[in-house]
Amino acid sequence: MVTIISGTNRPGSWTLKLAKYYQKRLHEKGLDAGLLSLEQLPPNLIETDLYGKRSQAFEPIQEIISNTEKFLFIIPEYNGSFPGVLKVFVDACSFPDSFYEKKAALTGLSSGKYGNIRGLDHFTGVCHYVHLHLMPLKIHIPNIKLEFDGNGDLFKKDTVEFTDEQMDKFIVF
Ligand SMILES: Cc1cc2nc3c(=O)[nH]c(=O)nc-3n(C[C@H](O)[C@H](O)[C@H](O)COP(=O)(O)O)c2cc1C
Repeated sequence: MVTIISGTNRPGSWTLKLAKYYQKRLHEKGLDAGLLSLEQLPPNLIETDLYGKRSQAFEPIQEIISNTEKFLFIIPEYNGSFPGVLKVFVDACSFPDSFYEKKAALTGLSSGKYGNIRGLDHFTGVCHYVHLHLMPLKIHIPNIKLEFDGNGDLFKKDTVEFTDEQMDKFIVF
């Protein structure tokens, strides 16, 4: 099972829009991937699902994570790094089995100039700690608000080419 994780719980996020684009494009390429948005997390996760606690609301999410062998994380830049809610989510997942010796690819995005280069570096450290094997090709998309056409598709030639290359490599990773 392959799962795309939309790495923020911000309503109306560009991250979710990009995650949906990846899901659609991967489907066109023959890979059906699930999509988990961090908007689906229980609202009081920090009270209900940390430090050995487990809520009923989180159980189906944990099941998705447990059944996934390959993840694609779409991660926005928040204050020069990845969102805190993404770290809380990783901390809430059962350890070490959730991510241990599994595979993942990373895509960063931002409204600013850098496309979350530092955030992906920071998250890479977390992935290494939990033994999640990362695909070497990481994609960074700056100025995300200028990247979509009216159908919710990426349309700029270089962005489409880079993301297609990443997806093609992800499919065989
Ligand atoms: C809490 C917060 C911090 C942010 N920090 C940055 C930042 O450091 N650099 C940047 O380019 N954009 C920053 N942004 C803007 C996001 O990159 C922008 O909203 C982009 O659309 C991706 O995030 P989204 O999926 O929430 O829309 C920040 C947004 C939020 C909500």
